[in-house]
Amino acid sequence: MSVQERTYIMVKPDGVQRGLVGKIITRFEERGYKLIALKLVQATPEHLEKHYADLSARPFFPGLIKYMASGPVVGMVWQGLDAVKTGRAILGTTNPLQSPIGTIRGDFCLATGRNICHGSDTVENAEKEITLWFPEGVAQWTSALETWVFE
Ligand code: PPS
Repeated sequence: MSVQERTYIMVKPDGVQRGLVGKIITRFEERGYKLIALKLVQATPEHLEKHYADLSARPFFPGLIKYMASGPVVGMVWQGLDAVKTGRAILGTTNPLQSPIGTIRGDFCLATGRNICHGSDTVENAEKEITLWFPEGVAQWTSALETWVFE
């Protein structure tokens, strides 16, 4: 396998509360991405303020931090070809009402402020987010299926 792009995908508190973790994992597994890190964590507001630092001036920022700290999240790192862009396509658009059927948001939610999942928007931000959420590092393992997914 030649391309090893990585992305940070997070099931937000509403996705965890609604029992959608398995469905979200399945979408990435079935597409062919490899799971290299996963954890359930109750994030502190301080940690979330670092994750969303670029949005600190936005009017919805306090509500976003409160929502994200309202329950545990599931953080994951997925690896594979074009993981950042295709990962975002699997999630769908920020506003679920505009997200096509077949995307996670288009299938499972309705409101921007309860859009059940997060995905890194650039390769650079993905690496920053992976370091923030997984300072201990990620797993190195070889999938027996890899040569059947990638040429
Ligand atoms: S923006 O407006 O262009 O910055 O929006 P976007 O880049 O698509 O979204 C950045 C993150 O902010 C979240 N967001 C919101 N949360 C709560 N309420 C409102 N109104 C809202 N608007 C945007 C959005 O879900 C993005 O978070 P992640 O975790 O990446 O989904």
